[in-house]
Amino acid sequence: QRLAVLISGRGSNMQVLAEACEREAWPAEFVGVISNRPAAAGLAWAAARGLPSFALDHTAHPSREAFDAVLAETLDALRPDWVLLAGYMRILTPGFVARFAGRMINIHPSLLPAFPGLHTHRRALEAGTVWAGCTVHEVTAELDHGPLLGQAAVPLRPDDDEDRLAARVLRAEHRLYPELIGRLLRGGLVREQAADGRVHYAVRD
Ligand code: GRF
Repeated sequence: QRLAVLISGRGSNMQVLAEACEREAWPAEFVGVISNRPAAAGLAWAAARGLPSFALDHTAHPSREAFDAVLAETLDALRPDWVLLAGYMRILTPGFVARFAGRMINIHPSLLPAFPGLHTHRRALEAGTVWAGCTVHEVTAELDHGPLLGQAAVPLRPDDDEDRLAARVLRAEHRLYPELIGRLLRGGLVREQAADGRVHYAVRD
């Protein structure tokens, strides 16, 4: 299975995916790491590791649609079975989402449906929740609302600030994302669509 990963910055989730792919001998290969920011640290990491990497500068395009068209073209040429978002910080146009429907996955740093969007850790702290965490979900037209592949919870501590909480959640992300993608690629997690169109991911032994 051909994996393409979209990043915007540090790319630590992309790194743990690439490492797990190799270490666990996933039946998969990384066919491309694409960043909408040419200076993204994750892109340099991918290039140094010999992964095909692509810098597409979104600021060089007049509109979101124009950029997403170039992104879609780049992805199509890679013929990915799965498009994995890992800290990709651009909202995707509905046309782009439709084109990769059912094969595009994201990781989000909250326990969805709580706190979609930005500043999830600050909002969890302000709300005084007992648990924070992360969610891996299929990407649909509505931001951070697609069917869930899985979640991991971490406790909030009384002395937490945003940075400490973010670091704790990130450690959970680094376990959860490779675990679920590994399972998906090996057939231990299966995408099922009911007659009414609803999608869910079922665990198989
Ligand atoms: C992660 O917290 C991810 O959940 C969120 O952005 C952050 C990206 O970190 N969408 P990295 O680029 O993977 O290091």
